Amino acid sequence: MENSKVLVVGGTGYIGRRIVRASLAHGHRTFILMRPEIGLNIDKLQLLLSFKAQGALLVEASMEDHRSLVAAVKQVDVVVSAISGRHFLLQIKLVEAIKEAGNIKRFLPSEFGIDPARMGHALEPGRITFDEKMEIRRAIEEASIPHTYVSANCFAAFFVPNLSQMRTLLPPKEKVHVYGDGNVKVIFMDEDDVATYTIKSIDDPRALNKTIYLRPPENILSQNELIAKWEKLSGEVLERIPIPSDEFLASMEDQMSTDFLVKHFQFCFILLHFLRNTVKHTCLVGTMVL
Ligand SMILES: NC(=O)c1ccc[n+]([C@@H]2O[C@H](COP(=O)([O-])OP(=O)(O)OC[C@H]3O[C@@H](n4cnc5c(N)ncnc54)[C@H](OP(=O)(O)O)[C@@H]3O)[C@@H](O)[C@H]2O)c1
Repeated sequence: MENSKVLVVGGTGYIGRRIVRASLAHGHRTFILMRPEIGLNIDKLQLLLSFKAQGALLVEASMEDHRSLVAAVKQVDVVVSAISGRHFLLQIKLVEAIKEAGNIKRFLPSEFGIDPARMGHALEPGRITFDEKMEIRRAIEEASIPHTYVSANCFAAFFVPNLSQMRTLLPPKEKVHVYGDGNVKVIFMDEDDVATYTIKSIDDPRALNKTIYLRPPENILSQNELIAKWEKLSGEVLERIPIPSDEFLASMEDQMSTDFLVKHFQFCFILLHFLRNTVKHTCLVGTMVL
């Protein structure tokens, strides 16, 4: 199959940079949106230049400048957005540009988490993420833009090394909080795998106008299983402290406004609560193995 021309929006971000690497590795002509707003951010600039040295093309455009966005989109046939959670709604501008350009054969908006279509019952205030992702989906579908949504469940780095503990990304040393009974299964995804599956889906006809669900069977573990693996690896036994759901929710209310990281754990908690539903539904909606 002929390789695609892929524009990555948010290409210096946590998942975006991995998508750029995966796109280059798969031999696609890879364009990265370079925003003038990055200004003096030397880390971003150096990353962009290192991608350029690997063959990527940097395209200057701003989400605030419709003409520049249309011009950027016209150079490619696939757009992958990996824009950050705080800026999801800016993607409306991207949708407008893609609609006007009229040449895009596949758009992948910034999703890469739990399928927002199944999170109507999520709790405030974290549910805003799901609501905004759904707003972008509606705009895409109203504009009849060919699309693929990637549901990637839990990024490993946020939930595995810390054994799903709050306020840290490192393993706990003596005590570990266990949510509920700790037996509900969670799907953990290596971020590089998320990027690879994303890039593999861009020209796969089976993924056209579908949601793909990334859930390798060996990555599906309960928190108890995760803790047991760490204890075996480290040779240490951790004291387990059970956290009932009402206690967890009360503690979140205190911290939510000030601690953004806690939001990730809210996702985790919501997931622990509703995962059985999610897994049941993923079987019905075109789960793909690539
Ligand atoms: N499943 C999980 O566990 C999990 C965990 C984390 C994130 N996610 C999902 O992954 C996606 C990307 O998240 P991330 O953590 O990778 O994001 P991120 O690193 O925080 O940011 C991604 C990019 O957003 C762009 N951006 C930031 N401010 C912007 C602005 N004002 N205007 C336009 N672009 C702006 C920047 O791109 P440039 O500067 O390169 O233009 C930035 O590099 C989101 O959909 C998020 O929900 C999932």
